Amino acid sequence: MKNNSLVSITDYSKEDILHILDLAAHFERTPEPTLLQDKVIASLFFEPSTRTRLSFETAIQRLGGRIIGFTDSSSSSVKKGESLRDTITNISLYADLIVMRHPLDGSARFASEVSHVPIINAGDGANQHPTQCMLDLYSILKTQGTLENLKIAFVGDLKYGRTVHSLVQAMTQFNCTYRLVSPIELKLPRGVKQHIKDANLEYTQHTELDEVIPDVDIIYMTRIQRERFADPLEYERVKNSYVLRNAMLDKSKDNLRVMHPLPRVNEISEDVDANPKAYYFQQALNGVYVREALLASILNLK
Ligand code: CP
Repeated sequence: MKNNSLVSITDYSKEDILHILDLAAHFERTPEPTLLQDKVIASLFFEPSTRTRLSFETAIQRLGGRIIGFTDSSSSSVKKGESLRDTITNISLYADLIVMRHPLDGSARFASEVSHVPIINAGDGANQHPTQCMLDLYSILKTQGTLENLKIAFVGDLKYGRTVHSLVQAMTQFNCTYRLVSPIELKLPRGVKQHIKDANLEYTQHTELDEVIPDVDIIYMTRIQRERFADPLEYERVKNSYVLRNAMLDKSKDNLRVMHPLPRVNEISEDVDANPKAYYFQQALNGVYVREALLASILNLK
């Protein structure tokens, strides 16, 4: 990638991924409060975020770096009609690295082509969310002791879910078996499914969640994302397709963990939260260590 940017999880080889996960474990054990002391990181969020923005900002602060940027592009000159090209060109003259979330598919790739400094894609439309993917992999590794030969159920919005697209692609490196659970309208896009086929891995498609729970190692729940639907009626038809309740986990494997990139709306009932198999809040915490690792690696400091 130009400038070391991280735009898609497919920019990283299996070795690259394992290196970042090792580094994340290092930062989890060993704080390094001065590593970024000479660095200025721009955090540009053109779309709302809680975990990604705040865990990046936590990671930057914990490594001693400084942050510029905006959480709402209407407070920037984008509001006056400035192009993404000019915005990125200019900010890349101020900062050592840019973390960017944007509603348009492909915007991070475009930014990486005009920027003078590395771009980290913090989510571009329905396309990719590679740093979420990396923290998902770290969470799977921590809870299962391995990334190899696992059976994962991806549940919910597989069509627009950028976290699903990135994780499905990454898991092709680790001989994953896929259970794809979604309404017909929200099936995994053909292009993403092709990665599973190219890797010759087993996958099955389902509309019922119950039937996959007993034999999987990870349930990866996702929100049906109202903001991605052009037709509000289509959203209304599918919005409550899946609700995972605690009792549904009674027959699950001992090692099962329930993950979710969050935010959740109602697809995981709150009665699951006290179940030791619920892992979504720890998963979000892991994002700090993984983002510390990505910042350090992309800036060639580790
Ligand atoms: N997982 C995730 O991207 O969450 P936020 O939208 O809160 O950043």
